[in-house]
Amino acid sequence: MTKDELKKRIIELKREKGAVILAHYYTTGDVQEVADFLGDSLALSVKARDIDAPIILFAGVNFMAETAKVLSPDKKVLIPVPEAGCSLAESCEAKDLANLKAQYPGHKVVSYVNTSVGVKALTDVCCTSTNALKVVESIPREQPIIFAPDRNLGSYIQQITGRDNMVIWDGACNVHEEFSLEKIVELKEQHPDAKVVVHPECKASLVEIADYVGSTAGILDYCGSSTSKEFIVVTESGILVEMQKRYPDKKFIPAPTVDTTVKCNECRYMKMITLENILSCLEQEAPEVSIDESTRKAAEQSILNMVAIK
Ligand code: 13P
Ligand code: SF4
Repeated sequence: MTKDELKKRIIELKREKGAVILAHYYTTGDVQEVADFLGDSLALSVKARDIDAPIILFAGVNFMAETAKVLSPDKKVLIPVPEAGCSLAESCEAKDLANLKAQYPGHKVVSYVNTSVGVKALTDVCCTSTNALKVVESIPREQPIIFAPDRNLGSYIQQITGRDNMVIWDGACNVHEEFSLEKIVELKEQHPDAKVVVHPECKASLVEIADYVGSTAGILDYCGSSTSKEFIVVTESGILVEMQKRYPDKKFIPAPTVDTTVKCNECRYMKMITLENILSCLEQEAPEVSIDESTRKAAEQSILNMVAIK
């Protein structure tokens, strides 16, 4: 089938089955085109909770589909490629977090949504890059915190809040850690008017030179409201599709990575989702996400605690 035929068939099947496709900004442009809702990880979590459809197909990585299932246990949640993981989520296993909690009794656990359902079940409140600051600030200053698993986001929040009572997990996203400070500085010299927009999963040296630091949705909004016409984008390159679509008169330059021989600015997990596997997943209504009820319930509270923080 051609791409257009695949897209047409996916749209027909969605309609027949009452299915809704949620997609993250890091998926390919083709996948984004068949999505009913495109968003960052926070918006997708909220959408998964509120959506009125019997089937949700999650075009994203597995922790996102799990989050949707945790919030919508009565819906069928499908993920085209269950092996689409996340280096951050993989850096933090539930048993290791349980050990750290035992080492630091009395600490509240704040975990990024980029975690397994088992980790969420051990978490007091989840956060995303959009609301991490709000979530940490909602916890009394004297209350010590374990922040997992992203060391870069954790250090960034610690630096802004000046809290010295945060134990930060040593995990990182291997896409966001690959950007080259030297090459970005060089690029900025060639484009002096360009604003540098950086995701907080990047290293501190990159956050320091940023004109704006924020989640994918935050970066998108900033690029729209800024009077600047040019941006150096220091996050996963899939977001450029939506940027160019929303702001066609602006120029978006993907930031260079240390190794330019491979596509390090692409999340290989997000790119596992294709039109072909979406179609097959819709046709077979499989693979489906399933979570045991006690883990789901424990994880649900940590996500609801996050969503409740305004
Ligand atoms: P946001 O969607 O919160 O910006 O997170 C980025 C990310 O890495 C998702 O995996
Ligand atoms: Fe995980 Fe990084 Fe991919 Fe996001 S970009 S899904 S944090 S590996």
